[in-house]
Amino acid sequence: METTTPPQKKIIFSAIQPSGTITLGNYLGALKNWTQLQEEYRCIFALADLHTITVRQEPAVFRRNTLEAYALLLACGVDPQKSPFFIQSQVHTHAELAWILNCYTQFGELSRMTQFKDKSLKHADNINVGLFAYPSLMAADILLYQADLVPVGADQKQHLELARDIAARFNGIYSPTFTIPDPYIPKDGARIMSLQDPTKKMSKSDENPNAWVALLDKPDDIVRKFKRAVTDSEGGVRYAEGKDGVNNLIGIYSCVTGKSCAEIEKEFDGKGYGDFKAAVAEAVTDHLRPIQEEYARLIQDKAYLEQCYTAAAQTALSLSQRTLSKVMKKIGFLPPAKP
Ligand code: TYM
Repeated sequence: METTTPPQKKIIFSAIQPSGTITLGNYLGALKNWTQLQEEYRCIFALADLHTITVRQEPAVFRRNTLEAYALLLACGVDPQKSPFFIQSQVHTHAELAWILNCYTQFGELSRMTQFKDKSLKHADNINVGLFAYPSLMAADILLYQADLVPVGADQKQHLELARDIAARFNGIYSPTFTIPDPYIPKDGARIMSLQDPTKKMSKSDENPNAWVALLDKPDDIVRKFKRAVTDSEGGVRYAEGKDGVNNLIGIYSCVTGKSCAEIEKEFDGKGYGDFKAAVAEAVTDHLRPIQEEYARLIQDKAYLEQCYTAAAQTALSLSQRTLSKVMKKIGFLPPAKP
């Protein structure tokens, strides 16, 4: 009898920083995709807490943010039975490969990263080397797992391109070692904009809290933030050039309801922005309600959270160690000292 081996699932890796607020932008640009891809792909996810210390953190707050972000991602639908979901600082191979990749990354390449330029302006008093070398740590995260695809929002595209360049360079100097990863950027939701300045991306570091919606915002706050969202004076719910605020709201509404842009324009034909904003707020609240309820349950269960991230760290360590060992051997390091 003929036996066929099932085709190997492609590997997905992605991560998010546990830097306090997780926004609707993070969710629609990345997290929603993570959870939807878990059936079809072999997914591995992480909380990128080593990345978070590129900006100064208060220890107790940082610890709390990390645990809360972990619970919130499970509440969003990351399934630890299917997808190892670990905490980056608990898997030492990341920092080790990051150092190695630093030696295969050019100063000029890192200097061109727009996120580095933006963050240097924002944190002018702390432009540390970690902030500069952040993309080679991100490359290490991805390349350790031989990821084929990396689901991210559009703002991470430049970092992904650099990860590809670093991987190709290393493969070229030695021999094929790393899979070259492709970005997986959603058609809708890749760039959710600020509700206060729709020419800027929605960002948790925005000082004006009305600019972003957090996944754990209360319904009243969500309604208030959408009510105050900046639109234009022209009126008319339609997607068009120059109507950045309305386009952004249409995009959000489309992502949470599954309706197309044409359906949305038809639904609000002849209606004003007030009605539209109220409908967007209601749809977002309805979408977030089950996530918030699940989060409230999970954050009480610290033992379960610890069990999940401990098991995931062990899986991640054994997977990533294989790549790191190969890399070190190719470079010419002596084999590890025997205990
Ligand atoms: P972070 O924590 O800033 O954001 C997590 C994810 O959310 C996406 N995102 C958005 N998408 C749409 N609209 C927005 N306004 C918006 N804001 C954020 C981001 O693109 C990202 O996908 N460096 C990464 C974390 C990281 C990582 C990795 C990602 C570390 N290692 C390896 C992928 C692979 C970051 O700071 O994402």
